[in-house]
Amino acid sequence: MESGFHGRTIGSLSVTGNPKLRDDFPDNLANLTDFVPLGDFDTLEAMMSEDVAAIILEPITSVGGVRIASRKYYDSLRELCLGYGTALIFDEVQTGFGRTGEMFAGMHWGVEPDICTSAKGSAGGFPLGLVILSEAISSAPAPGEHGCTFGGGPLAMAALKANLEIIKEQNLVANAAAMELVVRDELGRIPEVKAVTGKGLLLGIELECPAKPIIRNLLEQKIIVGGCDRPGMIRLLPPLTVQPEHIKQFAEALVKALATAAQGVGA
Ligand SMILES: Cc1ncc(COP(=O)(O)O)c(C=O)c1O
Repeated sequence: MESGFHGRTIGSLSVTGNPKLRDDFPDNLANLTDFVPLGDFDTLEAMMSEDVAAIILEPITSVGGVRIASRKYYDSLRELCLGYGTALIFDEVQTGFGRTGEMFAGMHWGVEPDICTSAKGSAGGFPLGLVILSEAISSAPAPGEHGCTFGGGPLAMAALKANLEIIKEQNLVANAAAMELVVRDELGRIPEVKAVTGKGLLLGIELECPAKPIIRNLLEQKIIVGGCDRPGMIRLLPPLTVQPEHIKQFAEALVKALATAAQGVGA
């Protein structure tokens, strides 16, 4: 997707939409890739053929501007891929492990990809990346044909298992869904907030003003938020343990930051 970000190794860079990132590595394989806007099904459908190996997307883009499409779009994508024998790949590196209020974002629409990648929230901060394959795909390589040095490392697997137990015991997936409503309620009262996009605790706050000075001011108030490819948007990915009082505290800090920016201080 044009707004997709999949990483900076040569394979994942080749399917990353932002040309600014790719241009520094001109030998990437983006010449084998076509990029389309997330949510534009007609353009995608018109480009399809049986030569298309895979469609890869972050089901909800993160750094590309917290973009989300309609339920119908994800359903249609699934059907389209089945029709052409094309693999549907969801990059759930950011959206996986409860971040969006479901264990994986595809579950919001009941859409199961053929390949799912995940990482960030998988082992509670311990470095772990994973690839989940459908049976049809996982049975294709013969034993030994695919692997990696640290694949299935015992420490990472123990951290994954512990993290899964904590997510379950502390109902963190449900908490992410519930806290989204609190964020939307709190931010809905701030006139400079034009819209809140995203799902669960992967949210984009669209502002009337540039986001950079606001992000800087929030940091001075000891609150870390992210930016993204949209200059007027703040990206919010709080811990899944976040509670209403923290969100209230954030909303107050945001109001302060907006007031400071309006006075021209910190701009
Ligand atoms: C959605 C998404 N996919 C992939 C990656 C890349 O992961 P890595 O840096 O481990 O290659 C990132 C990194 O931020 C990401 O946000």
